[in-house]
Amino acid sequence: MGKISVLDKAVAEKIAAGEVVERPSSVVKELIENSFDALATSVTVEIEKGGTSYIRVTDNGSGIASEDVATAFLRHATSKIKDESDLENIATLGFRGEALCSVSAVSRTEMITRTQNEEVGTYMAVEGGEAKDYHAAGCPLGTTITVRNLFFNTPARMKFLKKDATEAAYITDICQRAALSHPEVSFRYIRDGRDIFFTPGDNQIKNTVRAVFGKDISNAMVEVDSKEGVYAVRGLTGSNNLSRPNRNMQYFFVNGRLVKSALLSMALTEAYKNELMVGKFPVCVLDISLPCDMVDVNVHPAKTEVKFVSEEEVYRNVVMAVRDAITKNAKNTNPLRQAQNAFKMAVDTPKVVQETLKGTKSFVKSTFTPVKPSVTEVAPVKKEEKKLFAPVKKEEKKLVSTPEELPVKAIETLKVSESEVLIVKEAVVKEEKVVEEKVLPKEETVVEIPDFEIIGQIFGTYIILESDNEMILIDQHAAHERINYEKIKNQGAMKQTVLLPVNITLTAREMAVWEENREFFDRMGFETEVFGNDSIIVRALPSDIDYEDGEALLLEIIGSFMGQDKGSVSEARDKAIYTVACKAAIKANHTLSVKEMDALVRESFALEGISTCPHGRPIRVNMTKYHIEKMFKRIV
Ligand SMILES: Nc1ncnc2c1ncn2[C@@H]1O[C@H](COP(=O)(O)OP(=O)(O)OP(=O)(O)O)[C@@H](O)[C@H]1O
Ligand SMILES: [Mg+2]
Repeated sequence: MGKISVLDKAVAEKIAAGEVVERPSSVVKELIENSFDALATSVTVEIEKGGTSYIRVTDNGSGIASEDVATAFLRHATSKIKDESDLENIATLGFRGEALCSVSAVSRTEMITRTQNEEVGTYMAVEGGEAKDYHAAGCPLGTTITVRNLFFNTPARMKFLKKDATEAAYITDICQRAALSHPEVSFRYIRDGRDIFFTPGDNQIKNTVRAVFGKDISNAMVEVDSKEGVYAVRGLTGSNNLSRPNRNMQYFFVNGRLVKSALLSMALTEAYKNELMVGKFPVCVLDISLPCDMVDVNVHPAKTEVKFVSEEEVYRNVVMAVRDAITKNAKNTNPLRQAQNAFKMAVDTPKVVQETLKGTKSFVKSTFTPVKPSVTEVAPVKKEEKKLFAPVKKEEKKLVSTPEELPVKAIETLKVSESEVLIVKEAVVKEEKVVEEKVLPKEETVVEIPDFEIIGQIFGTYIILESDNEMILIDQHAAHERINYEKIKNQGAMKQTVLLPVNITLTAREMAVWEENREFFDRMGFETEVFGNDSIIVRALPSDIDYEDGEALLLEIIGSFMGQDKGSVSEARDKAIYTVACKAAIKANHTLSVKEMDALVRESFALEGISTCPHGRPIRVNMTKYHIEKMFKRIV
């Protein structure tokens, strides 16, 4: 007998199901899409335990005729397309005819359904792909599908599931997106017996956004409603004072289908060009409608990726529609702005699309706002002293503190913006597995720090040293960044407790990322706890991070975890450590006192064998006396 044989049906079904049903939220997505395709005006999703034990989707749509019920569970059985030519013109969300089959192959699924023409409905139960029960049943018009014990027969898949809270957060995300994509449907979402949200279904996107995200967000958004040729762009987009440090609050739909699209995201960025600060991203809920034959939705089994026949036209239409909306809004607030926006309307689309597409990878740019240096109690070096490059006198040097004395022991209070909130900055937070601010182990002084003399600082950025027949230049930011990075990585970050805890609203997917990485965030210095369905409270920030920057920083890190489809979690964590290390580091163009320079230099020398910042730029550049003398032709 040959080595190759065809897999039996049950195994083949499980493999195929794996493509469609990755996790509980995929089941929820497929069932909701079926309800939308059945033109339901009311959809209710109920889940328990992150969807692993129970998912139920109820709709008042067309229902399935009793003669079709069993067929609906077969692979490639669909009422939505008939032949190949239909693939070019898909007007429904589903078309592959495999969702029900896949879901029922890996769970215990029950369906109860009735069409308008029937007096009695139909009940059918399928377990692990096998029909278990089928009979007539009284029920209201529409369909209810219940999915229990997901992955009960695929233990390998079960192992990959995350905590219930995380899986629930993924489902919340899907429900939010679904509700936003169909404002004409009244959508109810119930999690573990609690009503999470309920949209009115009045076809008003503003009311839908209000039901899903609350009034603060919906009030800060402006309406987009544009139609040009075959394209219509409708929805809401953030006014200038609503932005986020990542793209997680950008919801795009194409003909009511929730999609992932770098192109649409770039179009939005272009529309807001010069409107938002670098590192801030717009918020939107936008549906782009176009003829079905101008978009290919048959790209991936999950059906969230689309290809447009004309990317340029889609891009241009989105840019114009959003700009138009922002301009109209700005007209009320600032007449000058109107002229500026009109000027910006000329979009060189094809070129921009090409260029920006190239740059897709660099989406999440981190912005570094100025942060106070960690040692602040000493007056800065005077200008004259700097200009003259006067060497620090020996006696003065002796007074300078050793690294052990460095941590800012004092409780420092500083004023924060208008709210004048006080931050208590504690150098050592007791009763926490945090850290001593020290690079070297206390007892063994492993690394020998060379004798050096600080000559001064130039350009507010580089420290000049003389040491053993050498001149050394140190990049203060790179050095401090590396010191911070090593400390956080090896010992965890120091925390500063904030007097007024910050409440941060997260999207459901962000919530999932936060749940999964809670301990890591704690180690990074963010002391957080859950607060309601969609927000967390931050009680402490990593030391040396400004109070005003805390929220953006946390969101930025969460965002970078979410762009992690390809890279590993440890890469994302490492990147998060860089980010905090960088933000907490002394910036360039910042005058340092002698004491600060001395401390920084010592700590950087203590990083044995490490001579670059985490991004690979050098911390130090050395020039020997010999080299200098050669330059001046004292020696040949
Ligand atoms: N809630 C529902 N209301 C009415 N009909 C439904 C519902 N759910 C499923 N169906 C019927 O069952 C068929 C099979 O559903 P299934 O989700 O497996 O495939 P599909 O939606 O056609 O394609 P896809 O696999 O892309 O979702 C559908 O084509 C539809 O006719
Ligand atoms: Mg379907």
